[in-house]
Amino acid sequence: MYISLEGISKRYAAVTAVDEVDIAIGKTEFVSLLGPSGSGKTTLLRIIAGLERPTTGRVLIDGVDVTDLPPHKRGIAMVFQEFLLFPHRTVRENLAFPLRMQQLSKEEIASRVAWAAGILSLEGLEDRYPNQLSGGQQQRVALGRGLVAHPKVLLLDEPLANLDRELRQEMEVEIRRYQMQLGIPFIYVTHNQEEAMSMSDRIAVVSKGRIEDFAERSEVYDHPKTAFIAQFVGRSSHFNGTVSAVSSEGASVDISGVKLHVSRNANLKAGQRVVVFVKNEKVQLEARTDTARANSIDCRIKDIILRGAYAEYILDAPALGAELVATRPRSETVFTAGQEVRAFWSGDAPDIFPADKAA
Ligand SMILES: Nc1ncnc2c1ncn2[C@@H]1O[C@H](COP(=O)(O)OP(=O)(O)OP(=O)(O)O)[C@@H](O)[C@H]1O
Ligand SMILES: [Mg+2]
Repeated sequence: MYISLEGISKRYAAVTAVDEVDIAIGKTEFVSLLGPSGSGKTTLLRIIAGLERPTTGRVLIDGVDVTDLPPHKRGIAMVFQEFLLFPHRTVRENLAFPLRMQQLSKEEIASRVAWAAGILSLEGLEDRYPNQLSGGQQQRVALGRGLVAHPKVLLLDEPLANLDRELRQEMEVEIRRYQMQLGIPFIYVTHNQEEAMSMSDRIAVVSKGRIEDFAERSEVYDHPKTAFIAQFVGRSSHFNGTVSAVSSEGASVDISGVKLHVSRNANLKAGQRVVVFVKNEKVQLEARTDTARANSIDCRIKDIILRGAYAEYILDAPALGAELVATRPRSETVFTAGQEVRAFWSGDAPDIFPADKAA
């Protein structure tokens, strides 16, 4: 592995910002650190960069212990949420700045600036000032300042947070493309799950300074390892219940008198309090009939929110004493607000966790 964090903790007086983190990242990996505000993402990134000293543990890059090395000797570049461009310097001067600091020759600086401008599609904009650029172009210059020094690793801390949604999605595709083109690891901090999902090979989910799981993005999404991840990744409804029976085929869960079957039993015991999550896109809808159906609940459509190709049905489920959301393709049968329907899902749809470990 190219970057290893071993037993990294960071304490500020009473606050433990990072708590015993062990992760290893490959040479061509795109890894996201995904977690809510205050979970320790930036602190972890600053420790990798050398801007912060860990209280315990060590950082290795390419087999070398860099824990005691200052930032400029680590070969790491960092891009921040605030673009931090110099307003009174041109694009070319902004890009050249980190190289001037390294006292490279004029020719070398010119060639690297041209290289970065090429990769980032900034050609023709070199003589403009930041206020003459769009938000996306400014962000590309900020990325360029990270790349010109030919870092071994690029760290990005919520670099797209100030961009509007459309531009952000465009930049996600571009950033991933740069990373593949450069063949160096990118470590990308975000609290935005869509960003993490769109770009990463693997995602480390961070909560309270700890890594809840570090796995392939589809694994994190499809098989959340903890209730916290089930809550934080994807969109879902959740219910509290009690396990009424367990078998090799899974578990029966009683939720306010409604019996549901869960085809995973996750080492549960009868009588145990649990929390059950069902992702919105796994909830299906049908008109009510007299035919019984497993894992179904009578609902009333409270509201319908249109999201492009999808419709989000907000459902009142009186029997569960809860609200339930179903996200369906708009090409499917259309239901209307106020309609009485039946919501259902397959037995392998829910994720189930002991309630004591719930988020
Ligand atoms: N210099 C500091 N002194 C004291 N506490 C700090 C310091 N830096 C960070 N913290 C605390 O450490 C915890 C983690 O902070 P950090 O900035 O790493 O979170 P984050 O995940 O990046 O959050 P956000 O998404 O809001 O940027 C927070 O509780 C924060 O208040
Ligand atoms: Mg942060």
